[in-house]
Amino acid sequence: MTSSDFVLPEFRVESLGRRLCADLRSDHAGETGAVGIYKGMLAVSRDAELRVFAVSHLATEEQHLALLDGWVPPASRSRLLPLWSWSGWMLGALAGLGGRRVGYVTINAVEQFVISHYEEQLPRAQGEVRRLIRALQDDEAQHQEDAERRAGEGRLNWVERRWSAIVWRGSSMAVALARMV
Ligand SMILES: [Fe+2]
Ligand SMILES: [Fe+2]
Repeated sequence: MTSSDFVLPEFRVESLGRRLCADLRSDHAGETGAVGIYKGMLAVSRDAELRVFAVSHLATEEQHLALLDGWVPPASRSRLLPLWSWSGWMLGALAGLGGRRVGYVTINAVEQFVISHYEEQLPRAQGEVRRLIRALQDDEAQHQEDAERRAGEGRLNWVERRWSAIVWRGSSMAVALARMV
């Protein structure tokens, strides 16, 4: 997907109703966090392979954010954007410090969550909004598959499973908060 595949909606996001408006606010917050994740990873990691991965994913996340910046006007955005950016950065930096495998396992967990987060919104979304959410979700699915493939064969060990569950739970708490504030 490229940002140019979408034109700015003619409607105001607020006109979509409380629920969908909250969805889009959480999506905008999530993409802000996603940009932070890869920036954090790139700030700490010297692993060439992980950096190539992060640079290419970061480019997509910046596109997603630019797109949602256009859709979600400032007044409808989360008031906690600096927190989402910071916590994303911290997560990415932690994952980057853990090395290549931890980086991929972390992104795999984040993207699995994001895919289900977008999936959950689809029944409420119509028309252009639905097309937007689907397009974002497709990109995240590619990110998830890329991370999973790079993590390599072999099941996640106990620590990795615990870590993935923590990442999932943290993301879901962040979404719940961003829907409200
Ligand atoms: Fe994204
Ligand atoms: Fe992504």
